[in-house]
Amino acid sequence: MDRTRRGLALLLLLAGCGEAAPPAELRIVGGDAARGRAVITEHGCGSCHVIPGITGAVAWVGPPLMEWARRGYVGGSQSNTPENLVAFLRNPQALSPGSAMPALGLTEAEARDAATYLYTIGQAPAVPAGMPLAEGEAGTRPEPRMRPRAEAGPAQ
Ligand code: HEC
Repeated sequence: MDRTRRGLALLLLLAGCGEAAPPAELRIVGGDAARGRAVITEHGCGSCHVIPGITGAVAWVGPPLMEWARRGYVGGSQSNTPENLVAFLRNPQALSPGSAMPALGLTEAEARDAATYLYTIGQAPAVPAGMPLAEGEAGTRPEPRMRPRAEAGPAQ
C-alpha cells in the first residue's frame, strides 16, 4: 500500500471509530447519528453527563454514557433496547419512576436521533486505555479526558 492509500485507510478507520454502524438490534428507523449529536449538544445533555464524542460533555451529575451500546439497562431497570431508550429520553420518569433525569422536551424524532448517536458509542471492539483487556479485545482507542489529570489524584 502506498503512503497516500495508507493515510486514507487510517483516516477512514479514525472516522469510523466514533460512529460505527450499530448491530441490527440497535438500529433505529429514521434515526441519524449526526443529527443526534446536534440534539445532544443543543439540549445540554453534556451539562450532566460524560458523553464520548460530544464537545464539553464532561459533567458527573448523571452517569457517564460510556460504551452505551454495550450497556444492559437504561434508567436502572429497563433493558437497553432502542424502544426503551427513545422512551426514556422523551420522558425519563415514565420509564424509570423517580429518575433524577429531567424530561427535556425532545420530540420523537429528536429522541430517535439522540438514541442513534448513543448507540454509536461502544461499538469499537477495543476498550479504553488503561482497562484490562479480555482476549480478542486487543488495542486501545482515544477516550475523552473526563477531568483534568491534575485533579484525578492517586487511587484511594
Ligand atoms: C439535569 C441533569 C441531566 C440532563 C440535562 C440530562 N440527564 Fe440524562 N440522566 C441524568 C441523571 C441524574 C440520570 C440517572 C437517572 C436514571 O438513570 O434514571 C440520567 C440518566 C440518563 C441515561 C440512562 C443512564 C443509565 O445508565 O441508565 C441516559 C441514556 C441519559 N441520561 C441520556 C441523556 C441525554 C441524551 C440527555 C440530553 C437529551 C440527558 N441525558 C440530559 C441527568 C441528566
